[in-house]
Amino acid sequence: MPPVRVGILGLGTVGGGVVNVLRRNADQITRRCGRRIDIIHAAARRLDAPRICALDGILLTTDPMSVVENPEVDIVVEVMGGLNPAHALIERALTLGKPVVTANKALLAHEGNALFELAEARGTMVAFEAAVAGGVPIIKAIREGLAANRIEWLAGIINGTGNFILTAMRDAGRSFADVLAEAQALGYAEADPTFDVEGIDAAHKLTILAAIAFGMPLKFEGVYTEGLSKLQTEDVRYARELGYQIKQLGIARRHDNGVELRVHPTLIPERRLLANVDGVKNAVLVWADAVGSTLYYGAGAGAEPTASAVVADLVDVVRTLTADPTHRVPHLAVVPSQITDLPVLPISAVTTGYYLRLMVLDQPGVLANIARVLADHGINIEAMIQKEASPETQHLPIVLLTHPLQEAVMDRAISALESLDSVQLPIVRIRVESLAG
Ligand code: HSE
Repeated sequence: MPPVRVGILGLGTVGGGVVNVLRRNADQITRRCGRRIDIIHAAARRLDAPRICALDGILLTTDPMSVVENPEVDIVVEVMGGLNPAHALIERALTLGKPVVTANKALLAHEGNALFELAEARGTMVAFEAAVAGGVPIIKAIREGLAANRIEWLAGIINGTGNFILTAMRDAGRSFADVLAEAQALGYAEADPTFDVEGIDAAHKLTILAAIAFGMPLKFEGVYTEGLSKLQTEDVRYARELGYQIKQLGIARRHDNGVELRVHPTLIPERRLLANVDGVKNAVLVWADAVGSTLYYGAGAGAEPTASAVVADLVDVVRTLTADPTHRVPHLAVVPSQITDLPVLPISAVTTGYYLRLMVLDQPGVLANIARVLADHGINIEAMIQKEASPETQHLPIVLLTHPLQEAVMDRAISALESLDSVQLPIVRIRVESLAG
């Protein structure tokens, strides 16, 4: 068989990793898909930028559309990121009937429904393993490995940069800005790092995971998102005293009346494997009816882990090039006519446990008042610790864990607690998940 010819859009961290992995493992990859995969044409913003890969034998350009339109290019790999011009380039490739391999979670979260429709109409496909959890083959695991199951919920650490920052803050007491700069230097962070720290990147990935787990359209606009930037080190410390770790989780859960989609800092019991996923590692815990819980773990960002997923997609695409398009694995795990438009539930409808930290005046009756407000709202306290008052402010922290309750009830209870004279504003609230089946 003649080699398959690939055009690549973007030669940064991920693009460079793809070139290196394809070249280094060329023999293995050829054995696996029966044909050689050659990158013949590449587009980069600047041709003189320093690279992590050699580019001999590859035609270089600053015009990505010329790569897409090159009649010799059979498959387009998009690893430039961002919405534009990636959107127009992928649309053009699909219109030409060329399969696309992309790591672009933001674009898929926003435009994936239309792109998949276009791919199906043109008898081609979009492969996107690298868009979620870097090198962890979570798309394949959910879409194919768990195809027998009804998936009930999944919870994942799906932003490597955020987890890298949280881990270094906890273990080394390093500042947020210092660790973020290191994550950027290592090529983990998004071009706009607020996407990492504010949970937007994780929300893009959760959108994709939920769609394939539940066979629903991509609904990024429905994801409730809360970032890491407001998290304080004392809450990380108090959580540990109570036997919990704080992780930035993406959670998707199916209910009879819709799905929960949420990204926020979360207390999880430290005995859970997920609580011990540190650094740039990602992990996704999936609960499905037949198999129960399964956990997928690995590097969530970086040149070669992400390249591992891109190249695996290339191998898949090459293997299926001759298959009848209607018999390929569907983009969102179910055949297009069976995609169900599930409503996304508001965060006020979510039921979860809560960690609360109240800064209160050291006076008689304060604790009794807090307990009364919680009791009036039917809130059951699971654990409580009280710390010494700060000499400067005379306020002391009271930390509470509650049993699960509906967020709307907790909103009302927090308003009532904040109206007590002895309670300083604002009350810190972090959701708690037991992650039990
Ligand atoms: N910025 C992303 C992360 C890169 O840190 O996880 C991988 O998607």
